[in-house]
Amino acid sequence: MSIRLGIDIGGSGIKGAPVDTQTGQLLADRFRIPTPPGAKPKPVAKAVAKICKHFQWEGPVGCGFPAVVRQGTTWSAANVSKAWIGLDAAALFSKTTGLPTRVLNDADAAGMAEMRFGAGAGQQGVVLIITIGTGLGTALFNHGVLVPNTELGHIEIEGEDAERIASDAARKRENLSWKAWAARFNRYLQTLEKLFSPDLFILGGGASKKADKFLHRLEVRARVVPARLRNEAGIVGAALAAATSTKRICT
Ligand code: BGC
Repeated sequence: MSIRLGIDIGGSGIKGAPVDTQTGQLLADRFRIPTPPGAKPKPVAKAVAKICKHFQWEGPVGCGFPAVVRQGTTWSAANVSKAWIGLDAAALFSKTTGLPTRVLNDADAAGMAEMRFGAGAGQQGVVLIITIGTGLGTALFNHGVLVPNTELGHIEIEGEDAERIASDAARKRENLSWKAWAARFNRYLQTLEKLFSPDLFILGGGASKKADKFLHRLEVRARVVPARLRNEAGIVGAALAAATSTKRICT
């Protein structure tokens, strides 16, 4: 059994659990800390260390983070402090926790988990996973191989950043009915379909729990299914990243 601690850093909460990376099972109840206001690097790193401590964790750690992440350095900051831009997040977390820490984009982490253990398992061709939450996160796979950091939540739809109008945060902020929100999200999906012609869309994140409210309103050629791991995908994927040196996860 190969166990890793997976941590999912989000706009509202930071959640972690030890994961059996061979089965994708959480080996304990997840532990959640609210994201420190402003999501600045030091307080976030301290929260990550607190999660490690909670599980008395001694091994490698994987962290999903809501930004572009290349070789452990964060290069964007849509919903977190701008101080992350150009920061070596992996080094900061490793230093603060005293444990080897791998950092990757949060949607890429969730996507890896869905492809390995969830709705994308065994799926060939092009799969686009979208996490619908505070932001819109995306993970693009071709025959199980991830193209990291696609950031398709920030493509322009009708002159707006897609995430501003079609995320779950936008639905709540503007108090939209599911019908009104689904119409926007549908335009977003149709644009992605034009650009990437995926065989399958997998919808994850907070809104995926309410898939019955909007799935039937989406009109694209590709198959659209809800994510299977729901809340846990980010944690499981982060643990997977800590356990593998390669992003190829379908064999
Ligand atoms: C960020 C992405 C992230 C997504 C979901 C977006 O605002 O730019 O990096 O994956 O939110 O958290």
